[in-house]
Amino acid sequence: MAQRALTGIKPTGPPHIGNLLGMHQPALALQGSHECFYFVASYHALISTRDPERMRALSLEVACSWLALGLDPSRSVLWAQHDVPEVTELAWILGCITSKGMMDKAHAFKDAVAKSKEVNIGLYTYPVLMAADILAFDSHVVPVGKDQKQHVEMTRDMAQRFNHLFGETLVVPQPLIRKDVETVPGLDGQKMSKSYGNTIEIFLSPKKLRKKFMSIVTDSKGVEDPKDPETCNVFQLYKLFSTPAEQADLADRYRAGGMGYGHAKQELYELVNSSLGEPRERYQALIANPEEVREILDDGALRAREVARATLLRVRAAVGL
Ligand code: ADP
Ligand code: TRP
Repeated sequence: MAQRALTGIKPTGPPHIGNLLGMHQPALALQGSHECFYFVASYHALISTRDPERMRALSLEVACSWLALGLDPSRSVLWAQHDVPEVTELAWILGCITSKGMMDKAHAFKDAVAKSKEVNIGLYTYPVLMAADILAFDSHVVPVGKDQKQHVEMTRDMAQRFNHLFGETLVVPQPLIRKDVETVPGLDGQKMSKSYGNTIEIFLSPKKLRKKFMSIVTDSKGVEDPKDPETCNVFQLYKLFSTPAEQADLADRYRAGGMGYGHAKQELYELVNSSLGEPRERYQALIANPEEVREILDDGALRAREVARATLLRVRAAVGL
């Protein structure tokens, strides 16, 4: 049987190029070799979303972005998390064998405490629901960005503990993290993230996309000054989209002086804009046809539920229910 890949993304904002490089691209590259199960993590978004209209709109945007970037619904399964309620049942069962101490160590929870943010029970038990997402589908590999590694490790712990207590029932998954692009930097050089307001969204119009690139933070060196590519945010992003020859060429021009940051930003913009042109067109067509996307999600939910139901039957029997 083919290995199964599974991943999800929260509809908490429009997808950005950190998501694209860290998650969508490696996930979609598995379509030829794996059974791919990719979803919109709506229940996870509910931890922080309080606006139903925004939830609906962003869920559609996230589904459209999967399709526009190349998810082929005839080969892969695409659905919205809340259409497969079996995962919440599994989350309860996993919660019953998971120590509070493990949740106390989760980065998202620790971050919220450090920043004196509201901690609801959903946020606190976030890793349990994520483990249920992964384990309900017998996933072998989980393509994610580096920041999600801890969650996949916790999932492995929960699966191993379950199997130890109740006999071999759950598949123990592996995270799949791109070595060449662990963390994509944002406009300010920190990790690009919806929560830091430093994102470059994938499906912006060329004009808005250019404006974003022009707002990348740099130091204040003048046009004539020699510049260090390795400490420059523009160059760090350029590296992620260019060939080694293009990188060497731009690095030489940085070091030689006589080139302003505006020029480097323009080159970066042109490179990224040309690679996003086709997905942008597909995205526009999909977002104008929400019914078609809804049908794909409904069909995906049916296929996903079938798999999750079978796992839950095994899990219930294993624990004596
Ligand atoms: P955000 O941090 O913007 O809220 P999500 O948590 O929705 O992003 O992330 C969805 C997926 O994209 C996850 O697998 C995550 O690891 C990956 N990802 C997000 N930001 C980056 C980044 N800057 N670099 C690499 N991968 C990222
Ligand atoms: N926690 C992931 C994120 O913030 C989203 C997610 C939810 C997920 N469930 C998952 C990712 C299962 C991989 C597998 O990006």
